[in-house]
Amino acid sequence: MTDDRDRTDAHADTTSDDVRDAIDEARRILNSAQRITSFSGAGLSAESGVPTFRDKASGGLWAKYDPMQLASADGFADNPELVLEWYAMRRRALAAAAPNPAHRALAARADITHVTQNVDDLLERAGAKNVLHVHGRIDRDRCHRNCGYDTRIDLNNPPVGQTCPQCSAPLRPGVVWFGEMLPLDVWEAAEHACAMCDVLLVIGTSGVVYPAAGLIDLARSRSARIIVVNTQAADGGTDADLHLVGPAGRLVHDIVLGPSAD
Ligand code: OAD
Repeated sequence: MTDDRDRTDAHADTTSDDVRDAIDEARRILNSAQRITSFSGAGLSAESGVPTFRDKASGGLWAKYDPMQLASADGFADNPELVLEWYAMRRRALAAAAPNPAHRALAARADITHVTQNVDDLLERAGAKNVLHVHGRIDRDRCHRNCGYDTRIDLNNPPVGQTCPQCSAPLRPGVVWFGEMLPLDVWEAAEHACAMCDVLLVIGTSGVVYPAAGLIDLARSRSARIIVVNTQAADGGTDADLHLVGPAGRLVHDIVLGPSAD
């Protein structure tokens, strides 16, 4: 694949022939692939009611909250109660959310490896097996001193102010904060999945946070076809083969499983 490939854009706010053609083309590309990887961001879960980070109009988290105060080790050291209460709020909201048609369609294809920046468990709740969370998981707590302790938490009843049973350091959400390393084993598996795929389905990510966003470049450099699904034409990485503009719920369903009857 060369960098001067033609890109096709289709906007899904109509039921035009262009959109149907683009969905058909995306399906054709997927069905001819041996290895498919999805790479998702917050837009995948937006229709489940989970807020994105950078959508100002729809209440993106970083438009309302200071990430350095709430999602960094320094912020946690300054005010652990504030940080844990903020995660408790997000955890309870996630407990009340449910997978949307995009999660369910992706989960229905056992042959897709899912690399996600999302810390939610909606792909798993939809039944997906092969999910790599490069930014960690909000449904887990781990030792802040990194002694190795890591445990599942109850999203409905999030813990606040607990200490590690192994070393007594504070427990904190099992997510990657600003300035922290990504979990190495997960990252290496994600790199492998993106380097080896024939098609990378890039869903609902602004594609601006590195190193995760570099996985799109990695797949492209290994000649994978890149299909982007995003409500914004400018997001999700440039240089896609196919860019479908619209909500992931309907588009991902139709691309992955075929058009629904209605
Ligand atoms: P962003 O908030 O940066 O981007 C969300 C993307 O989803 C945007 O491109 C939107 O246009 C798109 N979008 C919104 N609703 C959509 C829908 N219904 N269907 C399709 N697309 C939709 O979120 P991420 O790209 O996931 O990091 O952000 C990457 C990382 O930045 C996150 O993992 C998080 C954050 O800081 C950590 O927590 C470490």
